[in-house]
Amino acid sequence: MPFPKDFLWGGATAANQIEGGCREGGKGLSTADVMTAGGKGVKRRKTIPLEPDTYYPSHVAIDHYHHYHEDIELFAGMGWNCYRLSISWPRIFPNGDEAQPNPEGLAFYDALIDDVIAHGMQPLVTISHFETPLALQQYGFWENRRLVDFYTRYAEVLFRHFKGRVRLWLTFNEINCMSTQPWVSAGIDSEDEQVRMTAAYHQFLASARAVRLAHAIDPENRVGMMYAGHFAYPNSCDPDDIIGTMDFMHKMMFYCDVQCRGYYPAYKLRELERQGVTLPVQPGDDEVLRSGTVDFVSYSYYLTHVTGKKTRGILKGLNGLDTGYKNPYIPKSDWGWGIDPQGLRYSLNYLYDRYQLPVMVVENGLGAQDTVEPDGSIHDPYRIDYLRAHIAEMKKAVELDGVPVMGYTAWGPIDLIALSTGQMSKRYGFIHVDMDDDGRGTLKRRKKDSYYWYKKVIATNGEDL
Ligand code: BG6
Repeated sequence: MPFPKDFLWGGATAANQIEGGCREGGKGLSTADVMTAGGKGVKRRKTIPLEPDTYYPSHVAIDHYHHYHEDIELFAGMGWNCYRLSISWPRIFPNGDEAQPNPEGLAFYDALIDDVIAHGMQPLVTISHFETPLALQQYGFWENRRLVDFYTRYAEVLFRHFKGRVRLWLTFNEINCMSTQPWVSAGIDSEDEQVRMTAAYHQFLASARAVRLAHAIDPENRVGMMYAGHFAYPNSCDPDDIIGTMDFMHKMMFYCDVQCRGYYPAYKLRELERQGVTLPVQPGDDEVLRSGTVDFVSYSYYLTHVTGKKTRGILKGLNGLDTGYKNPYIPKSDWGWGIDPQGLRYSLNYLYDRYQLPVMVVENGLGAQDTVEPDGSIHDPYRIDYLRAHIAEMKKAVELDGVPVMGYTAWGPIDLIALSTGQMSKRYGFIHVDMDDDGRGTLKRRKKDSYYWYKKVIATNGEDL
Protein backbone atom coordinates (compact mmCIF):
# COMPACT_ATOMS: atom_id res chain seq x y z
CA MET A 1 0.00 0.00 0.00
CA PRO A 2 1.75 3.23 -1.13
CA PHE A 3 0.18 5.66 1.31
CA PRO A 4 1.08 5.16 4.96
CA LYS A 5 -1.72 4.33 7.40
CA ASP A 6 -1.56 7.77 8.99
CA PHE A 7 -1.67 9.62 5.66
CA LEU A 8 -3.69 12.80 6.05
CA TRP A 9 -6.68 13.06 3.73
CA GLY A 10 -8.98 16.04 3.72
CA GLY A 11 -9.74 19.44 2.32
CA ALA A 12 -8.51 23.02 2.68
CA THR A 13 -10.25 26.37 3.01
CA ALA A 14 -9.44 29.95 3.98
CA ALA A 15 -11.49 32.01 6.44
CA ASN A 16 -12.00 34.99 4.13
CA GLN A 17 -13.27 32.74 1.34
CA ILE A 18 -15.88 30.85 3.37
CA GLU A 19 -16.76 32.42 6.70
CA GLY A 20 -18.62 35.62 5.98
CA GLY A 21 -19.84 37.05 9.31
CA CYS A 22 -17.57 39.89 8.37
CA ARG A 23 -18.84 42.27 11.03
CA GLU A 24 -19.93 39.68 13.58
CA GLY A 25 -18.27 38.58 16.80
CA GLY A 26 -16.22 41.75 16.99
CA LYS A 27 -14.25 40.95 13.81
CA GLY A 28 -12.31 43.79 12.21
CA LEU A 29 -11.93 44.27 8.47
CA SER A 30 -9.08 42.62 6.65
CA THR A 31 -7.26 43.32 3.42
CA ALA A 32 -9.52 40.68 1.83
CA ASP A 33 -12.70 42.49 2.88
CA VAL A 34 -12.08 45.51 0.67
CA MET A 35 -11.85 43.48 -2.55
CA THR A 36 -14.83 43.70 -4.88
CA ALA A 37 -15.99 40.83 -7.08
CA GLY A 38 -14.27 40.46 -10.44
CA GLY A 39 -14.69 37.88 -13.15
CA LYS A 40 -12.86 36.03 -15.90
CA GLY A 41 -10.50 38.68 -17.19
CA VAL A 42 -12.10 41.31 -14.92
CA LYS A 43 -9.83 42.49 -12.15
CA ARG A 44 -11.10 42.75 -8.60
CA ARG A 45 -10.95 46.32 -7.29
CA LYS A 46 -9.64 47.36 -3.92
CA THR A 47 -11.74 50.07 -2.31
CA ILE A 48 -10.80 51.79 0.90
CA PRO A 49 -13.12 52.90 2.41
CA LEU A 50 -15.87 50.46 1.47
CA GLU A 51 -18.37 51.71 -1.12
CA PRO A 52 -21.97 51.62 0.16
CA ASP A 53 -23.62 49.85 -2.79
CA THR A 54 -20.81 47.56 -3.84
CA TYR A 55 -20.80 43.79 -3.36
CA TYR A 56 -17.84 42.42 -1.41
CA PRO A 57 -17.79 38.62 -1.67
CA SER A 58 -15.95 37.97 1.60
CA HIS A 59 -18.60 39.72 3.68
CA VAL A 60 -21.04 36.84 3.47
CA ALA A 61 -18.99 34.31 1.47
CA ILE A 62 -20.79 30.99 2.00
CA ASP A 63 -21.74 31.97 5.54
CA HIS A 64 -19.70 29.19 7.09
CA TYR A 65 -19.72 31.39 10.20
CA HIS A 66 -23.29 30.22 10.76
CA HIS A 67 -23.16 26.91 8.88
CA TYR A 68 -19.89 25.52 10.24
CA HIS A 69 -21.47 22.59 12.06
CA GLU A 70 -23.34 21.43 8.97
CA ASP A 71 -20.21 21.86 6.86
CA ILE A 72 -18.02 19.90 9.26
CA GLU A 73 -20.52 17.06 9.27
CA LEU A 74 -20.39 17.03 5.49
CA PHE A 75 -16.58 17.01 5.53
CA ALA A 76 -16.50 14.20 8.06
CA GLY A 77 -18.97 12.30 5.88
CA MET A 78 -16.18 11.89 3.31
CA GLY A 79 -14.02 10.18 5.93
CA TRP A 80 -11.45 12.98 6.28
CA ASN A 81 -8.90 12.73 9.05
CA CYS A 82 -7.58 16.25 8.47
CA TYR A 83 -9.09 19.65 7.80
CA ARG A 84 -6.92 22.58 6.78
CA LEU A 85 -8.59 25.81 7.83
CA SER A 86 -7.32 29.30 8.41
CA ILE A 87 -7.95 31.56 11.35
CA SER A 88 -8.95 35.09 10.52
CA TRP A 89 -6.39 37.34 12.17
CA PRO A 90 -8.82 40.28 12.52
CA ARG A 91 -11.32 38.00 14.26
CA ILE A 92 -8.73 37.48 17.00
CA PHE A 93 -7.12 40.94 16.87
CA PRO A 94 -9.67 43.21 15.13
CA ASN A 95 -7.16 46.01 14.60
CA GLY A 96 -4.10 43.82 14.65
CA ASP A 97 -2.26 45.82 17.29
CA GLU A 98 -4.33 45.28 20.46
CA ALA A 99 -2.67 43.95 23.58
CA GLN A 100 -5.40 41.39 24.23
CA PRO A 101 -7.28 39.10 21.85
CA ASN A 102 -10.98 39.33 21.14
CA PRO A 103 -12.68 36.65 23.31
CA GLU A 104 -15.59 36.28 20.89
CA GLY A 105 -13.19 35.48 18.07
CA LEU A 106 -11.48 32.80 20.12
CA ALA A 107 -14.86 31.41 21.17
CA PHE A 108 -15.85 31.00 17.52
CA TYR A 109 -12.73 28.98 16.77
CA ASP A 110 -13.10 27.01 20.01
CA ALA A 111 -16.47 25.82 18.79
CA LEU A 112 -15.22 25.19 15.27
CA ILE A 113 -12.02 23.38 16.18
CA ASP A 114 -13.69 21.29 18.89
CA ASP A 115 -16.25 20.24 16.32
CA VAL A 116 -13.53 19.32 13.82
CA ILE A 117 -11.79 17.19 16.44
CA ALA A 118 -15.05 15.62 17.60
CA HIS A 119 -15.58 14.50 14.02
CA GLY A 120 -12.26 12.67 13.95
CA MET A 121 -10.30 15.24 11.99
CA GLN A 122 -6.96 16.73 12.85
CA PRO A 123 -6.96 20.50 12.31
CA LEU A 124 -4.15 21.97 10.23
CA VAL A 125 -4.29 25.70 10.83
CA THR A 126 -2.98 28.41 8.54
CA ILE A 127 -2.20 31.36 10.79
CA SER A 128 -2.30 33.94 8.03
CA HIS A 129 -4.12 33.18 4.81
CA PHE A 130 -4.26 36.41 2.83
CA GLU A 131 -5.97 38.58 5.42
CA THR A 132 -3.95 41.13 7.28
CA PRO A 133 -6.05 43.34 9.60
CA LEU A 134 -6.92 46.42 7.57
CA ALA A 135 -6.26 48.75 10.48
CA LEU A 136 -2.57 47.88 10.21
CA GLN A 137 -2.56 50.14 7.19
CA GLN A 138 -1.64 52.95 9.60
CA TYR A 139 1.76 51.26 9.95
CA GLY A 140 2.15 50.60 6.23
CA PHE A 141 1.32 46.89 6.67
CA TRP A 142 4.22 44.44 6.27
CA GLU A 143 6.67 47.07 5.15
CA ASN A 144 6.83 48.00 8.82
CA ARG A 145 8.82 45.84 11.21
CA ARG A 146 6.21 46.31 13.93
CA LEU A 147 4.07 43.81 12.02
CA VAL A 148 6.54 41.13 13.10
CA ASP A 149 5.59 41.79 16.73
CA PHE A 150 1.89 42.00 16.04
CA TYR A 151 1.94 38.73 14.12
CA THR A 152 4.06 37.03 16.77
CA ARG A 153 1.65 38.08 19.49
CA TYR A 154 -1.25 36.74 17.46
CA ALA A 155 0.53 33.45 16.75
CA GLU A 156 1.47 33.04 20.42
CA VAL A 157 -2.16 33.50 21.46
CA LEU A 158 -3.14 30.73 19.05
CA PHE A 159 -0.38 28.34 20.18
CA ARG A 160 -1.32 28.80 23.83
CA HIS A 161 -5.06 28.81 23.38
CA PHE A 162 -5.24 25.77 21.10
CA LYS A 163 -2.42 23.84 22.75
CA GLY A 164 -3.13 20.12 22.62
CA ARG A 165 -5.93 20.62 20.12
CA VAL A 166 -3.99 21.95 17.13
CA ARG A 167 -0.56 20.48 16.44
CA LEU A 168 -0.15 21.23 12.74
CA TRP A 169 0.40 24.83 11.67
CA LEU A 170 1.33 26.84 8.59
CA THR A 171 2.72 30.32 9.17
CA PHE A 172 1.85 32.16 5.92
CA ASN A 173 -0.22 30.97 3.01
CA GLU A 174 1.71 31.02 -0.27
CA ILE A 175 4.44 33.27 1.04
CA ASN A 176 5.94 33.67 -2.45
CA CYS A 177 2.83 35.58 -3.52
CA MET A 178 4.70 38.59 -2.17
CA SER A 179 6.28 38.64 -5.62
CA THR A 180 3.08 38.10 -7.58
CA GLN A 181 0.18 39.51 -5.52
CA PRO A 182 1.71 41.66 -2.78
CA TRP A 183 -1.56 43.32 -1.78
CA VAL A 184 -3.18 39.96 -1.12
CA SER A 185 -0.09 38.72 0.65
CA ALA A 186 0.89 41.66 2.73
CA GLY A 187 -1.12 44.82 2.03
CA ILE A 188 1.65 46.02 -0.26
CA ASP A 189 0.73 48.00 -3.36
CA SER A 190 4.14 48.95 -4.54
CA GLU A 191 5.96 47.68 -7.61
CA ASP A 192 9.19 48.66 -5.88
CA GLU A 193 11.37 45.66 -5.15
CA GLN A 194 12.82 47.38 -2.10
CA VAL A 195 9.35 47.57 -0.57
CA ARG A 196 8.39 44.02 -1.49
CA MET A 197 11.64 42.52 -0.28
CA THR A 198 11.39 44.46 2.98
CA ALA A 199 7.91 43.07 3.55
CA ALA A 200 9.08 39.55 2.65
CA TYR A 201 11.96 39.89 5.09
CA HIS A 202 9.53 40.83 7.84
CA GLN A 203 7.33 37.84 7.06
CA PHE A 204 10.34 35.51 7.19
CA LEU A 205 11.27 36.89 10.59
CA ALA A 206 7.69 36.62 11.82
CA SER A 207 7.46 33.04 10.56
CA ALA A 208 10.75 32.05 12.19
CA ARG A 209 9.71 33.59 15.48
CA ALA A 210 6.41 31.77 15.29
CA VAL A 211 8.15 28.44 14.64
CA ARG A 212 10.36 28.94 17.69
CA LEU A 213 7.39 29.85 19.85
CA ALA A 214 5.33 26.92 18.61
CA HIS A 215 8.10 24.50 19.52
CA ALA A 216 8.69 26.12 22.91
CA ILE A 217 5.00 26.11 23.82
CA ASP A 218 4.37 22.54 22.74
CA PRO A 219 7.16 20.28 21.47
CA GLU A 220 4.49 18.31 19.63
CA ASN A 221 3.72 21.23 17.36
CA ARG A 222 4.85 20.82 13.75
CA VAL A 223 5.04 23.96 11.71
CA GLY A 224 5.22 24.13 7.96
CA MET A 225 5.86 26.72 5.30
CA MET A 226 3.41 27.11 2.43
CA TYR A 227 4.51 27.76 -1.14
CA ALA A 228 2.30 28.79 -4.06
CA GLY A 229 3.28 25.94 -6.35
CA HIS A 230 4.89 27.75 -9.23
CA PHE A 231 7.03 25.25 -11.09
CA ALA A 232 8.29 25.82 -14.59
CA TYR A 233 9.57 23.81 -17.52
CA PRO A 234 12.03 25.42 -19.94
CA ASN A 235 10.49 26.36 -23.28
CA SER A 236 13.22 24.46 -25.10
CA CYS A 237 16.68 23.02 -24.60
CA ASP A 238 18.17 26.29 -25.78
CA PRO A 239 20.59 27.09 -22.95
CA ASP A 240 19.12 30.60 -22.80
CA ASP A 241 15.74 29.08 -22.01
CA ILE A 242 17.32 26.90 -19.35
CA ILE A 243 18.97 29.89 -17.70
CA GLY A 244 15.77 31.93 -17.99
CA THR A 245 13.90 29.13 -16.26
CA MET A 246 16.55 28.89 -13.57
CA ASP A 247 16.12 32.61 -12.93
CA PHE A 248 12.37 32.25 -12.74
CA MET A 249 12.61 29.39 -10.27
CA HIS A 250 15.14 31.31 -8.18
CA LYS A 251 12.68 34.18 -7.86
CA MET A 252 10.16 31.75 -6.42
CA MET A 253 12.27 29.20 -4.58
CA PHE A 254 14.19 31.65 -2.46
CA TYR A 255 11.06 31.92 -0.32
CA CYS A 256 11.30 28.22 0.41
CA ASP A 257 15.06 28.32 0.81
CA VAL A 258 14.90 30.94 3.57
CA GLN A 259 12.19 29.15 5.50
CA CYS A 260 13.65 25.66 5.12
CA ARG A 261 17.35 26.47 5.42
CA GLY A 262 17.28 29.51 7.66
CA TYR A 263 19.28 31.91 5.53
CA TYR A 264 19.12 33.76 2.22
CA PRO A 265 20.67 31.80 -0.64
CA ALA A 266 23.70 33.31 -2.35
CA TYR A 267 21.90 33.78 -5.69
CA LYS A 268 19.27 35.94 -3.96
CA LEU A 269 21.77 38.05 -2.05
CA ARG A 270 23.61 38.76 -5.31
CA GLU A 271 20.40 39.67 -7.08
CA LEU A 272 19.37 42.04 -4.29
CA GLU A 273 22.79 43.65 -4.48
CA ARG A 274 22.42 44.19 -8.23
CA GLN A 275 18.99 45.68 -7.68
CA GLY A 276 20.29 48.01 -4.99
CA VAL A 277 17.89 46.46 -2.48
CA THR A 278 19.00 46.36 1.15
CA LEU A 279 17.43 44.10 3.72
CA PRO A 280 16.44 45.75 7.03
CA VAL A 281 18.60 43.39 9.07
CA GLN A 282 18.95 44.05 12.80
CA PRO A 283 21.30 42.36 15.26
CA GLY A 284 20.04 38.92 16.21
CA ASP A 285 17.90 38.45 13.10
CA ASP A 286 20.23 35.89 11.52
CA GLU A 287 19.96 33.70 14.58
CA VAL A 288 16.16 33.99 14.53
CA LEU A 289 16.03 32.89 10.90
CA ARG A 290 18.44 30.03 11.49
CA SER A 291 16.65 28.68 14.53
CA GLY A 292 13.17 29.15 13.13
CA THR A 293 13.27 26.80 10.17
CA VAL A 294 10.15 24.83 9.41
CA ASP A 295 9.41 21.17 10.12
CA PHE A 296 7.82 20.45 6.78
CA VAL A 297 7.14 21.96 3.38
CA SER A 298 3.63 22.38 2.08
CA TYR A 299 2.35 23.83 -1.15
CA SER A 300 -0.58 24.42 -3.42
CA TYR A 301 -0.51 22.69 -6.76
CA TYR A 302 -2.80 23.61 -9.64
CA LEU A 303 -0.67 24.04 -12.74
CA THR A 304 2.79 24.32 -14.24
CA HIS A 305 4.41 27.06 -16.27
CA VAL A 306 6.67 27.27 -19.26
CA THR A 307 9.43 29.84 -19.00
CA GLY A 308 12.57 30.79 -20.85
CA LYS A 309 14.66 33.61 -22.15
CA LYS A 310 11.72 35.94 -22.63
CA THR A 311 9.65 35.23 -19.54
CA ARG A 312 7.71 38.36 -18.85
CA GLY A 313 8.27 39.69 -15.37
CA ILE A 314 7.46 36.96 -12.91
CA LEU A 315 3.86 36.24 -13.66
CA LYS A 316 1.36 38.52 -15.23
CA GLY A 317 -1.56 39.33 -13.02
CA LEU A 318 -3.89 37.50 -10.72
CA ASN A 319 -6.15 36.14 -13.41
CA GLY A 320 -3.68 35.17 -16.06
CA LEU A 321 -0.78 33.51 -14.27
CA ASP A 322 0.82 34.11 -17.62
CA THR A 323 4.54 33.75 -18.22
CA GLY A 324 4.25 34.44 -21.93
CA TYR A 325 4.68 30.80 -23.03
CA LYS A 326 2.17 28.04 -23.71
CA ASN A 327 2.58 24.34 -23.10
CA PRO A 328 1.24 22.51 -26.18
CA TYR A 329 1.26 19.17 -24.37
CA ILE A 330 -1.30 19.91 -21.70
CA PRO A 331 -4.93 21.10 -21.72
CA LYS A 332 -6.17 24.18 -19.89
CA SER A 333 -9.01 24.68 -17.46
CA ASP A 334 -11.83 27.08 -18.35
CA TRP A 335 -9.91 29.70 -16.39
CA GLY A 336 -6.76 29.13 -18.43
CA TRP A 337 -4.79 27.15 -15.86
CA GLY A 338 -2.66 24.42 -17.45
CA ILE A 339 -3.70 20.97 -16.20
CA ASP A 340 -0.61 18.88 -15.57
CA PRO A 341 -0.97 15.92 -13.17
CA GLN A 342 2.60 14.74 -13.79
CA GLY A 343 3.77 18.13 -12.64
CA LEU A 344 2.54 17.15 -9.19
CA ARG A 345 4.90 14.18 -9.10
CA TYR A 346 7.67 16.34 -10.52
CA SER A 347 7.14 19.08 -7.93
CA LEU A 348 6.97 16.66 -5.00
CA ASN A 349 10.33 15.30 -6.09
CA TYR A 350 11.70 18.77 -6.68
CA LEU A 351 10.86 19.94 -3.16
CA TYR A 352 11.99 16.77 -1.43
CA ASP A 353 15.25 16.64 -3.35
CA ARG A 354 15.93 20.21 -2.34
CA TYR A 355 15.05 20.11 1.36
CA GLN A 356 14.78 16.50 2.49
CA LEU A 357 11.79 17.46 4.59
CA PRO A 358 8.34 15.86 4.64
CA VAL A 359 6.08 17.42 2.03
CA MET A 360 2.35 18.01 2.10
CA VAL A 361 0.02 18.95 -0.73
CA VAL A 362 -2.30 21.39 1.01
CA GLU A 363 -4.19 22.62 -2.05
CA ASN A 364 -5.10 21.00 -5.35
CA GLY A 365 -8.28 21.11 -7.35
CA LEU A 366 -10.13 22.20 -10.43
CA GLY A 367 -12.12 25.42 -10.64
CA ALA A 368 -15.04 24.67 -12.97
CA GLN A 369 -18.62 25.59 -13.67
CA ASP A 370 -21.19 23.07 -12.40
CA THR A 371 -24.80 22.45 -13.34
CA VAL A 372 -27.45 21.51 -10.83
CA GLU A 373 -29.83 19.02 -12.48
CA PRO A 374 -33.58 19.35 -11.98
CA ASP A 375 -33.44 16.57 -9.37
CA GLY A 376 -30.73 18.43 -7.44
CA SER A 377 -27.86 16.15 -8.45
CA ILE A 378 -24.56 17.54 -9.74
CA HIS A 379 -22.47 15.48 -12.12
CA ASP A 380 -18.85 16.64 -12.16
CA PRO A 381 -16.81 13.96 -13.95
CA TYR A 382 -14.29 16.62 -15.04
CA ARG A 383 -13.44 17.31 -11.39
CA ILE A 384 -13.14 13.60 -10.61
CA ASP A 385 -10.87 13.13 -13.64
CA TYR A 386 -8.65 16.00 -12.56
CA LEU A 387 -8.33 14.81 -8.96
CA ARG A 388 -7.93 11.15 -9.92
CA ALA A 389 -5.06 11.95 -12.26
CA HIS A 390 -3.33 14.12 -9.66
CA ILE A 391 -3.69 11.65 -6.82
CA ALA A 392 -2.37 8.90 -9.11
CA GLU A 393 0.77 10.98 -9.72
CA MET A 394 1.15 11.74 -6.01
CA LYS A 395 0.97 8.01 -5.44
CA LYS A 396 3.85 7.47 -7.87
CA ALA A 397 5.89 10.06 -6.00
CA VAL A 398 5.41 8.01 -2.84
CA GLU A 399 5.63 4.53 -4.32
CA LEU A 400 8.20 4.93 -7.07
CA ASP A 401 10.24 7.87 -5.85
CA GLY A 402 10.06 7.47 -2.07
CA VAL A 403 8.95 11.01 -1.33
CA PRO A 404 7.60 11.25 2.24
CA VAL A 405 4.26 12.87 1.48
CA MET A 406 2.40 13.63 4.72
CA GLY A 407 -1.01 14.24 3.27
CA TYR A 408 -3.31 15.78 0.75
CA THR A 409 -5.99 18.38 1.38
CA ALA A 410 -8.02 19.22 -1.73
CA TRP A 411 -8.71 22.89 -2.25
CA GLY A 412 -12.16 24.29 -1.83
CA PRO A 413 -13.90 21.06 -0.77
CA ILE A 414 -17.03 23.13 -0.46
CA ASP A 415 -17.69 25.80 -3.11
CA LEU A 416 -16.24 29.09 -1.95
CA ILE A 417 -15.21 32.52 -3.17
CA ALA A 418 -12.41 32.32 -5.72
CA LEU A 419 -9.41 34.34 -4.71
CA SER A 420 -8.32 35.57 -8.12
CA THR A 421 -11.74 36.51 -9.49
CA GLY A 422 -14.01 36.79 -6.44
CA GLN A 423 -16.45 34.50 -8.22
CA MET A 424 -18.65 31.74 -6.82
CA SER A 425 -19.05 30.25 -10.28
CA LYS A 426 -15.43 29.09 -10.30
CA ARG A 427 -16.32 26.09 -8.20
CA TYR A 428 -13.89 23.62 -6.64
CA GLY A 429 -16.16 21.81 -4.21
CA PHE A 430 -17.23 18.27 -3.55
CA ILE A 431 -20.14 20.12 -2.00
CA HIS A 432 -22.16 22.60 -4.00
CA VAL A 433 -23.37 25.84 -2.41
CA ASP A 434 -26.35 27.61 -3.89
CA MET A 435 -24.93 31.09 -4.30
CA ASP A 436 -24.13 33.09 -7.42
CA ASP A 437 -21.49 35.63 -8.34
CA ASP A 438 -23.61 38.50 -7.03
CA GLY A 439 -24.21 36.89 -3.67
CA ARG A 440 -27.72 35.66 -4.43
CA GLY A 441 -28.82 32.17 -3.42
CA THR A 442 -30.23 30.04 -0.64
CA LEU A 443 -26.81 28.80 0.57
CA LYS A 444 -28.17 25.27 0.44
CA ARG A 445 -25.45 22.63 0.43
CA ARG A 446 -25.62 19.66 -1.99
CA LYS A 447 -23.27 16.73 -2.52
CA LYS A 448 -21.78 16.43 -5.99
CA ASP A 449 -20.77 13.11 -7.59
CA SER A 450 -17.18 13.91 -6.64
CA TYR A 451 -18.21 13.81 -2.95
CA TYR A 452 -18.90 10.08 -3.17
CA TRP A 453 -15.83 9.49 -5.28
CA TYR A 454 -13.49 11.20 -2.78
CA LYS A 455 -15.11 9.27 0.06
CA LYS A 456 -14.22 6.02 -1.70
CA VAL A 457 -10.65 7.20 -2.33
CA ILE A 458 -10.18 7.93 1.35
CA ALA A 459 -11.87 4.74 2.51
CA THR A 460 -9.34 2.74 0.45
CA ASN A 461 -6.41 5.00 1.44
CA GLY A 462 -5.91 6.01 -2.16
CA GLU A 463 -6.07 2.46 -3.57
CA ASP A 464 -9.33 2.79 -5.46
CA LEU A 465 -9.20 5.87 -7.61
C1 BG6 B 1 -4.35 29.56 -3.89
C2 BG6 B 1 -4.86 30.22 -2.64
O1 BG6 B 1 -3.56 30.47 -4.54
O2 BG6 B 1 -5.22 29.22 -4.89
C3 BG6 B 1 -6.35 30.09 -2.42
O3 BG6 B 1 -4.17 29.80 -1.49
C4 BG6 B 1 -7.07 30.18 -3.75
O4 BG6 B 1 -6.73 31.07 -1.49
C5 BG6 B 1 -6.61 29.05 -4.64
O5 BG6 B 1 -8.46 30.20 -3.63
C6 BG6 B 1 -7.32 28.93 -5.97
O6 BG6 B 1 -7.30 30.12 -6.65
P1 BG6 B 1 -8.65 30.78 -7.17
O7 BG6 B 1 -8.29 32.10 -7.67
O8 BG6 B 1 -9.17 29.89 -8.20
O9 BG6 B 1 -9.54 30.85 -5.96
